Amino acid sequence: MQKKLISEWISVGVLSERTGVSVSALHFYERKGLIKSQRNTSNHRQYPKHVIRIVSLIQVAQRTGFSLEDILLELEGLPNRARVTLEDWEALGLRWQDELDKKITQLTELKDMMADCIGCGCLSLEKCRLLNPSDTLGEKGAGPQRMTE
Ligand code: FES
Repeated sequence: MQKKLISEWISVGVLSERTGVSVSALHFYERKGLIKSQRNTSNHRQYPKHVIRIVSLIQVAQRTGFSLEDILLELEGLPNRARVTLEDWEALGLRWQDELDKKITQLTELKDMMADCIGCGCLSLEKCRLLNPSDTLGEKGAGPQRMTE
């Protein structure tokens, strides 16, 4: 029986099929520097098989709210993109958990501010923390606080 040869390189169509990501999105990822291909002798893009794992990682990160820029920074920090290890994955997961905790805290604060605004509708620059959340000078009173210092 002849052993089936498994290529180390795959086409964009196969990468799309294996990851569930559209071909146009994969091209976009490539333009953003998240994944890399090379051209075969027929001038078609081909990707090393390890890119399947990278694309999966991108999908997970996007689902948890990370931007492609954030993801690119993380990918650039990996010791070896061709071989994402369990340790790499755990380290990424811990960093992302910290980021998610921060986002959850921020969103909870926004939710609390929103609760204060429901039924109010004033949208006052002086009073509304949702409209003007970092108005530290407003605590000193109305008007141009810096002009009076
Ligand atoms: S709308 Fe009135 S406090 Fe935000």
